[in-house]
Amino acid sequence: MHKKILVLPGDGIGPEVTEQALKALEAVGEAFGHSFELEYELIGAKAIDETGEPLSWETIQKAEAADAVLLGAIGDPKYDRDPNCKVRPEQGLLALRKSLRLHTNLRPIQTYSVLESASPLKASRLAGVDMLICRELTGGSYFGKKWCSEDGKRATDECAYSSEEVQRIAHRAFAAARNRRGRLCLVDKANVLETSRLWRREIQQMAKDYPDVQVDYMYVDNAAMQIASHPSQFDVILTENMFGDILSDLASVLTGSLGMLPSASLGEGTALFEPCHGSYPQAAGKNIANPMATILSAAMMLDHFELREEAKIVRRAVQWALDDGHVTADIDRENALTCSSVGDLIAIYIEESGELKLNKGRMEAARNAVI
Ligand code: IPM
Ligand code: MG
Repeated sequence: MHKKILVLPGDGIGPEVTEQALKALEAVGEAFGHSFELEYELIGAKAIDETGEPLSWETIQKAEAADAVLLGAIGDPKYDRDPNCKVRPEQGLLALRKSLRLHTNLRPIQTYSVLESASPLKASRLAGVDMLICRELTGGSYFGKKWCSEDGKRATDECAYSSEEVQRIAHRAFAAARNRRGRLCLVDKANVLETSRLWRREIQQMAKDYPDVQVDYMYVDNAAMQIASHPSQFDVILTENMFGDILSDLASVLTGSLGMLPSASLGEGTALFEPCHGSYPQAAGKNIANPMATILSAAMMLDHFELREEAKIVRRAVQWALDDGHVTADIDRENALTCSSVGDLIAIYIEESGELKLNKGRMEAARNAVI
């Protein structure tokens, strides 16, 4: 199989972590006879620095022509300090999502037993945590009409949704629930918001077509409390853009490291894959960031290409690296490896196809080379 991938390394640790995911993809290519053709473009603060805008028209065109987009991270603190700043790195990501019509953002939250001690929750509360957050990604207040009075003393962000916008993501969420444990929870604020009542009406109607899926409804404030206290009750969470943004960060810490969470954004145009962590500017260029979220995002990309076996091996490689202690400082401060050595080891594991025929000498050499 031959696939064209547009790589947008972006800001902060983005370039370092995407490089490791590309090593994993290259290893998949070697082991399974696929070729991945890469093209690179700028996005976010790097793009502003070089071109004056966070996302260029050419980059959108290239994304549209590619089979998938792999994104590292965007964001730079120099833009966060000034609330009046008109051009911001985040606009690049929002514009890309909108241009590619990527309305469905999938954020799987899984726990790994070796990370239990790093989680803020007790191990007993973590048992069985395996949820998928389906976040609407191109509507709601992030894309509504924005307004600020001239004196800067009043501002509005309109939150709008249409039936069609709700239905298209909901179909994917119901389908995902069907392939998982058959449960879907709509998270909203229907006791207050008109848009939430629209979501509820649509989901209640659609639920009739998915009799095998058990549907629950939960207000977002309660959902935040439930995710933090009894997370294993959730299977698929379906929610609007801003609630999904907030709840996915909350859920991410359950795993013990934000550096473990991948995501896929799907819709009508080219699908986009990116880690959920941000640009982590304090770590940029230090080769210490955890590349696993981006490597797992590449696994989601392989699933999207229907390369299921290949995706499985990438996930197995990550699990092996965790179990064998080939991890970065966020997971094991004392015995930490660098970002690139974790990437190297995972790539070698994949190349050797993850079987027990693992070439021990090669792994030792790779590990020794970096300590
Ligand atoms: C995310 C991020 C983005 C969002 C930012 C960087 C615009 O927080 O992907 O969750 O709000 O969607
Ligand atoms: Mg976010």
